[in-house]
Amino acid sequence: MNLENDLYSIDKKLLVKAGTIINSRTLKNIAGLSGKISYVPIKNTPLLTDLIHTFQDKRYADILYPHEINLKIISYIRRIKIPEKILSELAYMKKVSPYTYNHILTIAVLAGKIALDHSHKDKYLPDMALRLSLFHDLGKSRIPLRILNKRSPLTKDERRILNTHPLIGYILLHYYFGKNCKSMAFSSFQHHERLDGSGYPKGIKRINKYSHLIGIVDTLDALLSERPYRKSPFSLRAAIDFLLDESEKGRFHKGLIHALIRYARKERPGSKLIIAQRGRDKEPAGNSYGKTAPSTTRRISGKSIPLLDK
Ligand SMILES: [Fe+2]
Ligand SMILES: [Fe+2]
Repeated sequence: MNLENDLYSIDKKLLVKAGTIINSRTLKNIAGLSGKISYVPIKNTPLLTDLIHTFQDKRYADILYPHEINLKIISYIRRIKIPEKILSELAYMKKVSPYTYNHILTIAVLAGKIALDHSHKDKYLPDMALRLSLFHDLGKSRIPLRILNKRSPLTKDERRILNTHPLIGYILLHYYFGKNCKSMAFSSFQHHERLDGSGYPKGIKRINKYSHLIGIVDTLDALLSERPYRKSPFSLRAAIDFLLDESEKGRFHKGLIHALIRYARKERPGSKLIIAQRGRDKEPAGNSYGKTAPSTTRRISGKSIPLLDK
């Protein structure tokens, strides 16, 4: 694995030069560059206000309820401390891509909610789910904005560049957490992996359980979001049906998808579920989620060369 561009930390330290092979030794060296880590509580920062604001997102009204549980999640949020440099990363993300920033916060709250309900059965820690979710897409701020904010489906080449964000985040987190980075860095590196090995960047099947939880709510949020290239986003029901199909293909953990179904049906966490095999909701017309546009460039000697118009 390597990156096409030099990678700098938020405090302008060169972490990786373009083309450097990234292996465990490189990562260890990067972790070694990290000085004393200063952890800051997120209460009294705009991040706390923005996270609380996320609960008002109408798209998730059928998931983020009842009020007492929301308050419980907020009480976990108030206690979160993160490295100061990651706080700066998130503030930078808010500036360059408010959409991605809001997405990160939404993922944190949704993962926190499921972790809270699965804290006994699957031993999820809500505070861990919240913290790790905040780190999952840090690498996106280093993706060119023409790709990150593109208003039509990505070409193969653009998708390849976008798909480096888990690796970029993984490297950044090694620097921000120093020697104790392992479990923190996986949230970024593995959140696009799938249990059947169909994900990226490695196509592995054994996935850190928090990364997998993040991967599920991450997909849900992608489906429910307005995208200029499709007429309308998925309805909550169609999105959950899509995730259920994915879980039946062995990509997602069924129990976690069932948690989403229970929320949408207003059933108690852990209650017995009857899942219909027919009559599932359809994806919206013109949906291009996960589809690729024809390439406008060609890879020659590791470089992207624009294809000439015929
Ligand atoms: Fe991502
Ligand atoms: Fe994401």
